[in-house]
Parts: sequence; C-alpha cells; structure tokens
Amino acid sequence: MKTVVSGVRPTGRIHLGNYFGAMRNFVRMQHEYDCYFFIADYHSLTTHPNPEALRANNYHILAHYLAAGLDPDKAVIYTQSDVPETAELYLFLNMNAYLGELSRCTSFKEKARQNPDNVNAGLLTYPTLMAADILLHRADFVPVGKDQEQHLEMTRTFAQRFNHVYHTDFFKEPQAFNFGEALVKVPGLDGKGKMGKSEGEMNAIYLTDPDEVIRKKVMKAVTDSGPTEPNQEKPEIIANLFQLLRILSSPEAYTFFDEQYNQCQIRYGDLKKQLAEDAIRFVSPLRERINALLADEDLLKKTLRHGAERARESAVKTLTEVRHIIGF
Ligand code: TRP
Repeated sequence: MKTVVSGVRPTGRIHLGNYFGAMRNFVRMQHEYDCYFFIADYHSLTTHPNPEALRANNYHILAHYLAAGLDPDKAVIYTQSDVPETAELYLFLNMNAYLGELSRCTSFKEKARQNPDNVNAGLLTYPTLMAADILLHRADFVPVGKDQEQHLEMTRTFAQRFNHVYHTDFFKEPQAFNFGEALVKVPGLDGKGKMGKSEGEMNAIYLTDPDEVIRKKVMKAVTDSGPTEPNQEKPEIIANLFQLLRILSSPEAYTFFDEQYNQCQIRYGDLKKQLAEDAIRFVSPLRERINALLADEDLLKKTLRHGAERARESAVKTLTEVRHIIGF
C-alpha cells in the first residue's frame, strides 16, 4: 500500500471549507492508503502560542478528525511533538539546507514581511521541518493545496540531496496527491472568494458554530439588488451563494432558486433562509459529536497515545537507517 502523509497546524477553528477540502477526503483515503495524519504542533511554535492554547488546539483538531469519521485504527492520527524522531530528522536535514533556498521560499518571505519582529530560525527552516514530517514515513503522496506546492518541491530537493551526499537511494521523492473532482471549493459568505478564517469572523461557518450563529452569518451574507434581465449570468457574490446552496441543499432547492433567479423573481431572503437551515442540518450533528469528544479528555489522550505509538514505529525504523547512513 502507498503511504500518505498530511499535517495541519493547530491554529484555530475548522470551517466548512476545510471540511469539504481535505478532511472529507482523508476519511476516504484511510481505506486506500497507509495514512499518517498529524497535528503539526512543532510548526505552530514559530508564533509562540501559550501552553494551554497549544494543548486545547491539538484536542480541537483531533475531535474534528474523529467526528468527521477518521478511524484511529486505520489512519495513524498523531501529534508531531509525540514523535521526537521528527525533530532529529529535521536536525539532520538542516545540515544540508541552505540559507539561500530557505530565504527565497515564498511563504517565508510572506511571513517575514507580515511579522518583521519575529523572523526566527524556526520560520526560516519551516520547509525542512515539513520535509522531516514527510520523509519520516517515506511518504509516496502528500495531499497539498497550491500554497504548499513549493514546500513539497523543497522536500524532494532535500530528499535528493540527502541521497546524493550519502550515496544512497534511501529517501523516495514524495508526489503531490491531487484530489481532483473530489475537492469541493467552498466560497465564503462575503462573496469575494474562498471560505477562510483570515477574511473575518462572518465569512466562514465553523463546525462548532451554534445554530443561531450559523443563521446570523448566512442571513448577513452579501447580495446584490437582483437580476434585471431573464437568464442573466450571476455575478460572483450571487454565484457564490448558489455554490453554497449546491453543496449544502437538495438539488430541488437549488433548481427552485435558480429558476427564480432566471425569471428575475428571486428573493434573496428566502434563499438565505433555506441555505441557513440546510447549513444547520449539516453542521449540527458534526458539532454535537465534536463537543462530545471534547468533553472526553481521556478518550482524546488515549487516541493520541495510540497514534503516537503507531507513528513512532515507522519513525524509529527510518531514523535507525538514517543514523546508520550518516555514520553514527
Ligand atoms: N505546512 C502545512 C500547512 O501550513 C502543514 C504541514 C506541516 C504539512 N507539515 C506537513 C502538510 C507535512 C503536509 C505534510 O498547511
């Protein structure tokens, strides 16, 4: 079976865009691949979170994964910091990672520009840590979005370089895993683009949002003054609302409002009411499961311990080889 590795930084809440993006696909992948899904808590240290927040965020992600249907006996679900071999491999890879290539990395330049007072070495070497995450399990595939492609490219570079320096073919070069059609893009509620947490509180529906919050967010979604001609093409803000309707509502509801739009009889208030109720119908069972899991700290702890044991089996194997190759 081919191996898949993916990590997520525990930096906050998870919204419908995350759910329909990667998470739902992870649930399918666990049956077809050896999956390692980890919480990238080492990575999150670049922004110096406080210890309580860090722990809570790790549990938060785990509860979402379990609620969505990831099975800890199938996929290996773990926190990065429970597998210290990650840090050791990171150290080794850093010896052959150069300041030039690291500082040219787009995400580094972006973060350094945003936070000029916190340009730390962890930020600079983010790509080597990510390479360590992936090479630790000698992954075949990494499901990545556009923003992570450069990091994956660097992972291949570091793998090649290690092989070259030590005259070995130990590391294989991981490839991007493309979800293709299965990747559903979820627009945000501000009509401007993807659902995302950086666009403000009202733009995203989080899986832990209570019903009233979902209703309020949807009812406040941006619309225009309505179509003026039959069968007019929908401007982006309206097309986005229809896309949400397509994802969350029944085909009948979608067709109904589409026809209303085409006949210039659309009432956005009614559309949003429908959308709000369908979003609630979708989110509320997930939210209840997440909250129940969050209330069961013992189970969460046990699950992470189990994941760490399984992840370390693979990690120890890799590091035993790597130390030997290096000459220790
Ligand atoms: N850099 C990824 C992100 O910001 C998270 C991540 C860390 C990751 N290590 C990884 C993703 C390894 C895939 C594989 O989204």
